[in-house]
Amino acid sequence: MEYQISAILLSQEELAARVREIGETIGRDYAGKELVVVGILKGAVIFLSDLVRAVPADVNITLDFMAVSSYGDSTKTSGIVRIVKDLDGSIKDKDVLLVEDIVDTGLTLSYLVKMMRERQPKSVRVCALLDKEERRKVHVDVDYRGFPIPDEFVVGYGLDYGGRWRHLPAIYTIEQK
Ligand code: IMP
Ligand code: MG
Repeated sequence: MEYQISAILLSQEELAARVREIGETIGRDYAGKELVVVGILKGAVIFLSDLVRAVPADVNITLDFMAVSSYGDSTKTSGIVRIVKDLDGSIKDKDVLLVEDIVDTGLTLSYLVKMMRERQPKSVRVCALLDKEERRKVHVDVDYRGFPIPDEFVVGYGLDYGGRWRHLPAIYTIEQK
């Protein structure tokens, strides 16, 4: 099936304003502390790069990344989370913030939070740009959330369909050609 960009869901301006707010909130919550920001590749990279630049300098941020695969190239969840790339560093006794592009069924994040907790960090919080609440299958505490969105497949600002459209600066729905 071939898809094309359909309607704009969130503009560059809306994204920038919300990302700035979340960055400031994180700045207040972790002021004077060390924070390991863990980006979930590849979807979270665009959001993460804007987000960390919105966090004031008095948070001592380091970055690490993890790559997981749960979807293959389709829009349907498999329910299986495979670690493709693990963290480079230890998170033991550290404050950790997991940054994800979107929470859909919740399977990916609930698995990752559980896995992070086993490594005995001081704390683990979750930041997700988008939240498709209606689709949730397992509960996940999302501590910092950008936008709740309807149950539609979206691309852009890091999110892809079959690897495509991550580079779009705004978020769009897609439709069949
Ligand atoms: P979950 O495990 O079902 O919560 O799925 C989370 C992952 O599914 C995200 O990291 C995305 O890679 C992918 N995903 C879910 N919905 C969308 C979407 O609308 N667009 C692009 N990717 C999505
Ligand atoms: Mg993803």
